[in-house]
Amino acid sequence: MSDQHKVTVELGERAYEIHIGSGVLARAADYIAPVLSRPKLAIIADSNLAENHLPVLQAALDGAAIAHDSYLVPAGEASKNFNQLAELSEWLLGQKIERNDCIVALGGGVVGDLTGFAAAILRRGTRFIQIPTSLLAQVDSSIGGKTAINAKSGKNLIGAFHQPDLVLADMEVLKTLPPREIGAGYAEIVKYGALGDAAFFDWLEENGADILALDEPAMAQAVAKSCEAKAAIVARDERETGERALLNLGHTFGHAFEALTGYDNTLLHGEGVAYGMVLAFAFSAMRGDCPDADAARVKAHIAASNLPDTMDKIGDGQFTASALIEAMTQDKKVQNGKMRFILAHGLGDAFIADNVNEDELRAFLLAQGAQDA
Ligand code: GLY
Repeated sequence: MSDQHKVTVELGERAYEIHIGSGVLARAADYIAPVLSRPKLAIIADSNLAENHLPVLQAALDGAAIAHDSYLVPAGEASKNFNQLAELSEWLLGQKIERNDCIVALGGGVVGDLTGFAAAILRRGTRFIQIPTSLLAQVDSSIGGKTAINAKSGKNLIGAFHQPDLVLADMEVLKTLPPREIGAGYAEIVKYGALGDAAFFDWLEENGADILALDEPAMAQAVAKSCEAKAAIVARDERETGERALLNLGHTFGHAFEALTGYDNTLLHGEGVAYGMVLAFAFSAMRGDCPDADAARVKAHIAASNLPDTMDKIGDGQFTASALIEAMTQDKKVQNGKMRFILAHGLGDAFIADNVNEDELRAFLLAQGAQDA
């Protein structure tokens, strides 16, 4: 099977392509040149990539006579702030980047979100290209046009929908990532099977170990399938007025654990999503919405993928039901004061539940090992 894939996000005049495969970064100019209005662009890169991946992109652009300047964003979530946004925007203006020029985001979710938001507001909207270098960014955050910085009151609360013009996902850049980060990105891949494609979930049960071991054709296939799933949902519901919310499977539970562990390395976002999916399926089963056997398969695959499948594997494992519920009610997805959960009728069949009551949620969390307070 070929390990080169192309997925189109069908958004009419704003449609764009995602190219997935090995060596895509070294061939970046072949994909980038056709979308440029003139042979000039600005690269915004994660400072950790300055040594290895940035020179590959720069060489590719030099080879195609595309002029470029680079700006390094300090690695880490803390860079998604107003000061960094202001500095980056002034730098882009200093580089005389025009509305029809492209800004390239080379990095993980932090650089993609920050650069995308800068592109959304620079000259009231400049074009941009995503070159995601983390697995999580390749299968989720680089696609679909959600861009943002963080606010004091929460993550990603200040942002805009602004679609990129091109996404390039190179399997080779993933080889240098720590295994834990690969696992966290893999959780988002599992999410696409769990929420809408039972056959893909079956395939992941068979092939997950190869993906986690960085087998490039298996990875490219999994990334492409994930991008197809997300592209289809985004094309139908770009602004999350309905179906796009299904992409938040595992997120309401997961965010609560992320918040209570301080959004640090104790629990990576993808790990929170992994455990959140286990809980979403177990809760669905408890409510009688979903067969127990499907919930058991989700839990078993998360455990087999070395991701957290029980509460005692998260931090010190000590969480009170009240603190978890409080964190869930602060979630972005609360609407009209009601918590919205993404639950499932079965594997590949997620739905939006607005009717969760706090008593059943508390009883469920206690049964999962939360403390009674
Ligand atoms: N990460 C979820 C979305 O893009 O809607």
